[in-house]
Amino acid sequence: MKETVLVTGGAGFIGSHTAVELVEAGFDVVIVDNLSNAEMAAVESVRKITGADIPFEKVDCCDRAAFEEVFKKYKFNSVIHFAASKAVGESVAEPLKYYGNNLGSFVNVLSLMKQYGVENVVFSSSATVYGQPDTLPATEQTPRKPATSPYGNTKQICEDILRDSVAAYEGIKGIALRYFNPIGAHPSALIGELPKGVPNNLVPFITQTAAGIRKELSVFGDDYNTPDGSCLRDYIDVVDLAKAHVVAVTRMVKNSGKSRFEIFNIGTGKPTSVLELVNAFERVNGVKVPHKIVGRRPGDVEAVWADTTLANNELGWKAVRSLDETLASAWAWEKHIRNIQ
Ligand code: UFG
Repeated sequence: MKETVLVTGGAGFIGSHTAVELVEAGFDVVIVDNLSNAEMAAVESVRKITGADIPFEKVDCCDRAAFEEVFKKYKFNSVIHFAASKAVGESVAEPLKYYGNNLGSFVNVLSLMKQYGVENVVFSSSATVYGQPDTLPATEQTPRKPATSPYGNTKQICEDILRDSVAAYEGIKGIALRYFNPIGAHPSALIGELPKGVPNNLVPFITQTAAGIRKELSVFGDDYNTPDGSCLRDYIDVVDLAKAHVVAVTRMVKNSGKSRFEIFNIGTGKPTSVLELVNAFERVNGVKVPHKIVGRRPGDVEAVWADTTLANNELGWKAVRSLDETLASAWAWEKHIRNIQ
């Protein structure tokens, strides 16, 4: 019998790509999303890409009663929990929204799993838990640093909630995936990142600038202690990242983990600077991205990239799409949504 996976936040950027990869790997999928930061069109596109009649429930995971109906209606043994608020700046302005949404929804996921005998959960964590690591690349053993935003704090607390829940409840297994910087879009250009308002993240700002929606990109700082002075990040293709979720679920379904709670870095293992990324985008896509250097953005770390040895060896997962392919896919998606030829 086919395994079914509940994907919360499945209409969002990473959730929609993961839903596609799950179906293509032979899983059935149920999508839950409150559509607060996503569009129903993404669900339609996931159905179109996969040809699968994927059930969708417009439910807020913080609404326990409504969320419980999903556990009653469908039979599944694994949950991938993406549904969360994710804007660092907004989290500083509205910490209660972030603690309420991100902790509340995850507590509901776990308590409903316990109540309904659902065994496996993948949690979307982030490289933000490392802050500025003392040594690079960051391994899973690299100490977490005190969070610099409520958003980052929710990722740390949720990792701890998962660790403690797995320790206390024998029926539950969990994997936390620490994403580095997810970028790009599906090769079909039918799903991708769709930020509301002015993008905070680099690549959506680049694609919108190339499309003429933004006048110019501000490069936040060129006086860091890095080869070209701009910050270094590990940009991971969203399809590669989506596949890591399929591998993580499969590992729990097959009971092949080393322990019932595991953490993996999901990145490429390669640092790329902001300026390198802008130049690569222009070269690959043959478009100009007007940009100027401005001051540092408060809260930015200078450099962070992943040691992916554990994911490579234990999960048998590796990022395969090149940065050029990924930047081409990001531009194809932007052109698709803006009707640019
Ligand atoms: N940047 C610019 N100009 C912009 C936007 C970003 O120069 O307009 C720079 C930033 O200063 C940084 C790099 O591009 O050096 C990447 O910035 P992003 O905002 O795209 O990503 P961050 O690394 O700041 O944050 C990302 C996620 C967070 C997560 C964090 C943890 O967006 O959710 O990684 O690693 F918490």
